[in-house]
Amino acid sequence: MRSSDIRSTFLDFFQERDHHVVPSSPLIPSDPTLLLANAGMNQFKPYFLGEAVPEHPRAMSVQKCARTSDIENVGRTTRHATFFEMLGNFSFGDYFKQEAISWAWELFTRNYNLDPERLWVTVYLDDDEAEQLWRGVGVPSERIQRLGMEDNYWSMGIPGPCGPSSELHYDRGPAFGREGGPAVDGERYQELWNLVFMQNLRGEGSGKDGYSIVGELPSRNIDTGLGLDRLAAILQDVETLSETDLLAPTLRLVQEMAGREYPGRDGSEASVSFRVVSEHARSIAFLIADGVLPARDGRGYVLRRLMRRAIRHARRLTIAEPVLAPLTSSVIDTLAGAWPELERQSELIRRVVTAEEEGFERTLRQGSRLLDSAISRAESTLSGQTAFELHDTYGFPIDLTLDAARSAGLTVDVEAFGDLLEEQRRQTHRAGQNRKGDAVARQDLYRRIVADHGLTDFVGYDTTSTETRLVALLDDTGTVQRAREGDEIEMVLSRSPFYAEAGGQVGDTGTVRTSDGLLRVMDTRPGLDGLHVHTVHVVEGEIGPGQEAEALVDEDRRAATARSHSATHVLHAMLRRVLGDHAAQRGSRVEPGRLRFDFAHFSAVAPSDLETIQTLVNTYLLDDPDVRVWEASRTEAEKAGAIALFGEKYGTDVRIVDIGDASRELCGGIHVGHGSQAGPVHILGESSIGTGLRRIEALTGADALRHYDHQRDLLTQLAGLLNVRPDEAPERLRQRLETLAEAQRELDSLREAELDSHARRLATSAESLPGGRLVAQIVDVPDLRPLASRTLTHLRGNAVVVLGSRSSSKAALVAAVSDTTVQARTLLTGAAAEVGGGAGGKGPLASAGGRRPERLEKAITLAATEARHLLDSDDPPHII
Ligand code: ALA
Repeated sequence: MRSSDIRSTFLDFFQERDHHVVPSSPLIPSDPTLLLANAGMNQFKPYFLGEAVPEHPRAMSVQKCARTSDIENVGRTTRHATFFEMLGNFSFGDYFKQEAISWAWELFTRNYNLDPERLWVTVYLDDDEAEQLWRGVGVPSERIQRLGMEDNYWSMGIPGPCGPSSELHYDRGPAFGREGGPAVDGERYQELWNLVFMQNLRGEGSGKDGYSIVGELPSRNIDTGLGLDRLAAILQDVETLSETDLLAPTLRLVQEMAGREYPGRDGSEASVSFRVVSEHARSIAFLIADGVLPARDGRGYVLRRLMRRAIRHARRLTIAEPVLAPLTSSVIDTLAGAWPELERQSELIRRVVTAEEEGFERTLRQGSRLLDSAISRAESTLSGQTAFELHDTYGFPIDLTLDAARSAGLTVDVEAFGDLLEEQRRQTHRAGQNRKGDAVARQDLYRRIVADHGLTDFVGYDTTSTETRLVALLDDTGTVQRAREGDEIEMVLSRSPFYAEAGGQVGDTGTVRTSDGLLRVMDTRPGLDGLHVHTVHVVEGEIGPGQEAEALVDEDRRAATARSHSATHVLHAMLRRVLGDHAAQRGSRVEPGRLRFDFAHFSAVAPSDLETIQTLVNTYLLDDPDVRVWEASRTEAEKAGAIALFGEKYGTDVRIVDIGDASRELCGGIHVGHGSQAGPVHILGESSIGTGLRRIEALTGADALRHYDHQRDLLTQLAGLLNVRPDEAPERLRQRLETLAEAQRELDSLREAELDSHARRLATSAESLPGGRLVAQIVDVPDLRPLASRTLTHLRGNAVVVLGSRSSSKAALVAAVSDTTVQARTLLTGAAAEVGGGAGGKGPLASAGGRRPERLEKAITLAATEARHLLDSDDPPHII
């Protein structure tokens, strides 16, 4: 089963069971307490905590996850990865253990056809209920094991929801480890699916990491995580993650670059390196695509470390050329179908990895020089401090230091090095704890502000300016009493006209004036539900809490945002009219003059449908429908047919926005007063953003008009170049292209004739040997392969063709043999070394290249000698 089928089988299964598909969150989570997204449940944390109410109680997702705590195990085990896709189904206070367990069993044994005899189950120590349920679906008690906190209790590692879990494991057989179930051997009995029964709350406490269980969640929930690559390895019957279709093409490329076969899981260091390089390439591509850039700390450091590890393992496989760009490009080719962001960010990925790899090479060179000088000064031992400095300041790996010291007959004070490293780890850990603590502390601070001053009185639905009072000022350290010119701080107002980012609509910007201060509001977001936090820059004067002020929203920007919001609602309505009711909103981003709309749909929207949708939206708006905003209880709103969106937060009384008769949605956002104020809506395009999810991007109002102006300019320029009127341009261009195509065909046939006659000339000059004929020559063509293959066809019978060419800086060689059992690459081994490079290729066609063009003659002679051996008798020995 291909991994794309594994994904869709999962989603189909849970869709049939009324789950809504939710797109993966980016790897950079919105949760400030989390470094990288590490589980499907991350984005649902507010639902589990009861801080927000999901519109639909069941969800499913394919989540991108990054975990590097086990990085040392990657490549060494069959199952560890630093990036993986997690398939998950979720219940927010809806179904619980029974459904979670019986569905997991059904999906595994019926849909994925896993042999029930090989499935083992673990449950948390005292979870009799889970054990009973597993027995109920047919798991015999001898294949159910009980494990403790460490294995069968799940939390995010930070304060938040948690609960006992139950895991499904697959017995991979004796070749993978010892008998005795998951309690004995995690390699052999591989964990595939973790079902977490989310019911408790973790907070500050006496546990080892400073946390412990502090209470119960408001409801009982389900959170599951099924590792896509582990399941793929089993369903595709391959030994390790790197051999699944998710990574195999990248692993193949590593082999080509290394000029050797992947040896399989043979326990060798080389085999580990093959897996590390291919696995890390995937994480690197995904992290960069989601906006992580290499840095000295935080996420950026995680990325940098992955890149450096990949490069070092590639060098161990004696790959000398740059590896990250070609490998991440292979990852993009393999996975962009499922994860289009890879393709969209391919240019960024290429640039970042290329720069980082060059930088690392420089680091290594610089480190080597320092190391040489340290070695020349040392008597018998290189100090731990030196080794640490090389590691820490220059990123110079310790094993290289050890190697170099050993060759110079020196030892390294590894113990002192270890101590320094440990001390640094402790510091980083403390910093990490502080960061997590910071985000939690911030929320507490906001809560205190609400306790003292109440929620923000938001007046922005009715007005864009108001009298108000500064309630609190906050900088990075907490609340402050003063802020001065040049400071950038957070500010809470008693009353605010500024919309705080929510429901996809961006936060308002504007100005706030006090008696002697002027503030620029750069963004507004909800610190807590109902508490508007303004990010402000003090332009003039000095301010402090308690001061009276006047707040003014940027009206043009607000109006342009309102246009986009109303346009989004109408687009939603028309989309469903044209595509069907399933095309429901799954997310949106409403900005001044621009919108992004995500919705459920299982194939690309045809351009003609998109056109129809756009026309419907614009004619509907031109009819100038009234925009009516009203409030009602949730039940009344539902009765009235208002569309509610998954992922939005609503209280008991809801706000409903009607635009004419066709659009009615629950919405807390800002809208135009009349439909025609939204102006034209221009759809820029439609694309896939994940399985079953599409995205439309559009321009609204003045931005749409500017876009049309720009298009008209382009057409005018084009017509100018073609020397015709704009309306004649398409026809003229078609004619020109036809002429061009004709010329191209002629050129191709001339080239073909030239290639053929060149091949014939070479064939006539062949040397005859007992076992066949040989051509070995230097030629002056840019592409050697087609010429070599063609010469071979003219030679007929058993033959070998070796061709070489050179430029001022490079030499290239190609060998082609008629005997398909011969590995042509072996003919080029000596020649490749001669020109200072390596040989690659499989079967009867191989190539080599190097940077010493002046040695090409010698190289050709070497290859010819090899070929002569091969053709020396009537019955040539096969070189395999
Ligand atoms: N959140 C659970 C995990 O990541 C399902 O294993």
